[in-house]
Order: sequence, then structure tokens, then C-alpha cells
Amino acid sequence: MLNFDIQFPTRIHFGRGKIEELAREVLTYGKKVLLVYGGGSIKRSGLYEQLLNIFKESGITPIELPGVQSNPRISSVRQGVKLCREYEVELVLAVGGGSTIDCAKIIAAGTGYEGDAWDFFTRRARITQALPLGCILTLAATGSEMNGNAVISNEETEEKLGTGSPLLIPRFSILDPEYSFSVPPEQTAAGTVDIMSHVFEQYFSPTPGTFIQDRLAEAMLKTCIHYGPIALAKPDNYEARANLMWTGSLALNGLLGAGKRTDWATHDIEHEISAIYDVTHGLGLAILTPYWMYYVLDEKTAPRLADYARYVWGIEGSEDLAVARVGIEKTTEFFRSLHLAGSLKEIGVEAERLEEMAAKATAWGALGSFKKLEYLDVLTILQNAYKG
Ligand code: NZQ
Ligand code: ZN
Repeated sequence: MLNFDIQFPTRIHFGRGKIEELAREVLTYGKKVLLVYGGGSIKRSGLYEQLLNIFKESGITPIELPGVQSNPRISSVRQGVKLCREYEVELVLAVGGGSTIDCAKIIAAGTGYEGDAWDFFTRRARITQALPLGCILTLAATGSEMNGNAVISNEETEEKLGTGSPLLIPRFSILDPEYSFSVPPEQTAAGTVDIMSHVFEQYFSPTPGTFIQDRLAEAMLKTCIHYGPIALAKPDNYEARANLMWTGSLALNGLLGAGKRTDWATHDIEHEISAIYDVTHGLGLAILTPYWMYYVLDEKTAPRLADYARYVWGIEGSEDLAVARVGIEKTTEFFRSLHLAGSLKEIGVEAERLEEMAAKATAWGALGSFKKLEYLDVLTILQNAYKG
């Protein structure tokens, strides 16, 4: 295990009715709030109405930024920054899934920065300050509600890039699993895969001696495998939604990756796909992950992939390579059972753009740490995932 420093600054209010904490939390920072939300799910669920009532009763003034899209755009960030400056906003409040939260984070960082917020992604500027941020989560997936990461798309350059800073970690997040009852099946499935992928990216590591992180990771994977299908079959099953929601936060708040080198190659490749095709992040991951697993499987990586097969899927056998292969097959079957597509071709990706994606993904160097992937490795994974 490597040395590490860790802090979990987000105050989590978890459970039914926890919206009761909202006014007190907001008023800690001020009365002028930028309310950031997506394409309308919070209006259909009644949450928007509830928020307006809370604001009215507590003397809080919301300034609204609606319409944040999935794979959030830098143009929404720019709009939000403008509003924050114009109205002297004191807190940015994101209500929705990872896209809304990520957009809100960069608005928070961009408000006090004199240049353009895209500079944080091109590494032209570092994040040195940010407005305080709070979240109300409605979709279990990214873990953005408890971490300092943000991923934003630039529609003009067809880039989707990430950045991060401890300054972007939400001060508080309200996690009421009931808010996720209305998440549609394809997003429930994609969110479950995204959580699993975050675990994989940290579990498949070259660092030895991380028994505790590894057993925690396996518990999270088993939770997704158990509760993902239940949430799909019964969208209002509180136990399933609650377990998925808390796992989503724990999977990417720093806990699993502390003390080890992490991988993130599959995510880097997926971001190139969703940059161009605007596909759902978790769907892209569901297609790529088994092909990444097959590609990296060799004598050296087999023991860890076999651990995964044995501890998560209960596969028996003494031959690591054979056991690992069964684990990968189980993973593929599980993703298919969630009704997710199995090839890039099926979701409209064009074969002639795979080389461009591989080149962009490796533009800043090789990907991954479990097994390093250069341009040709990434291209092969993309080609295999394309065919399905
Ligand atoms: O826009 P609305 O109308 O709210 O609808 C959303 C959207 O269409 C809908 N939805 C959310 N909650 C709902 C609901 N529909 C009904 N009922 C509800 N309760 O779901 C759709 C998807 O929402 P989105 O926020 O895009 O999904 P997700 O949470 O999966 O976020 C994906 C984004 O996060 C990035 C991804 O790349 C992608 O851009 N990621 C962020 C990370 C981070 N900050 O740590 C890490 C991840 O690996 C990921 O890269
Ligand atoms: Zn992800």
C-alpha cells in the first residue's frame, strides 16, 4: 500500500425526507443561490416545486440555470458564470445527476476566474478558488456528489475533458433515494455500470498489499450486481435505490483509490466516444469494459482478474487465466441482462472515426496503470468493441 492523504469534506444527508436540511445548509453560505438543473426531470417529479416552497419560506432567492444537458456543455457553464456574476450568487446548488453537478462545479470555479472556464480543461489555468457548492442528487452513478471531479464537453472542438480540485468538492449533498425512483430503466442500468466501472478502475491496479481497499471494492461490486436488477424491475424499491445511491458515492470519493495506483483507461476511452456521439456515459462503459478486460488479460494481470471472478462471481478453479475469462464472460452477461447494447456499432459509432478517438485518447501519453495502453492498444480495444 502507498502513502496517502485523504479527507471527506462533504456533509452527507442521506435518506427519506432529508430535504429538511436544505434551508439550514443554504443559509450557512447566503441567500442568493444559483439553482442548476437538467432538462426537466425535477419538474416532473415535483422536486422543483418543493424547492421553490422551501426557498420562499426561508427567504432564499433562487436564480435559475435550467437545461443542463447530459455530457454537459461548456456553453452551459458560461451561462451559469454570467448569472453568478450578475446576481452575486453566494452558493451554487446542483439538483440532478452527474452532468448537472459537474456543470455546477465549473460554474463555481469559473465565476471568480477572469478567463474562460474551458482553460481549466486545457490546463491553461488551475482552479484556485470556487464558490461553495451544494447538491441534491437524483441519479446514482457518478459519485460527483462527494468528489472534486468534473467532466465537461466542448461542442465546438468535439472534446470531453476532465478536471479536478479539492475546491470543487460539494460542501453538502442531500441523498434521498426516493428522488431516484423516477430514473428511467436505461439510466438506472447505465448508472449501475458507471458505479461498477469506477470500482474496476481502482480495483485493477498494479499496487500490491491493498487487501482492505480490494475487499471494500468487491463488496461494492456485489452490491451493484445484487441491486441493479432489482431497481430495474421495481423502480420504487427503496432498499435497492438506497444501496445503489450510497455505493455510487463511496465508489468515487477517494476511499477505494487511496494508497494505490489506479487505472482509468476505460473511462479515458469512453470520454472520446461520448465527446463525439453524445452517448450515455455508462452505456459506453458497458460496451468497452469487457473488451478492455479481455485485452489486458495476460499471465501478469490474471491473478487480479481471477480474484475478481472468484470473490465477486464465486467462480471456482485453480487456473487464474481460465477463472479470469469466466469472470469476464459473467460481466458481459450481466451488462446484457440490464438491456444495454453490446457493440459500438449498435449505438451508431462509425468505424472510420475509431483511429481519431484512439489518437485523442492517447494524445497526452499512454493510458492506464494496470496495463499501459498505447495508441495501437486503444485502437484494438475500440475495434473489438465496435464489432461486438
Ligand atoms: O436532465 P434531466 O431532465 O434531469 O434528466 C436526466 C438525464 O436525462 C435524467 N435523470 C436524472 N435524474 C432523474 C432523471 N430522470 C428521471 N428521474 C430522475 N430522478 O437522467 C439523464 C442522465 O443524467 P446525467 O446527469 O447526464 O447522468 P449521470 O449522473 O450518469 O452523469 C453523467 C455525466 O457525468 C460524467 C459523465 O462523463 C457524464 O458527462 N462523469 C462525472 C464524474 C465525476 N464528476 O466524478 C465521473 C464519471 O466517471 C463521469 O465521467
Ligand atoms: Zn464514470
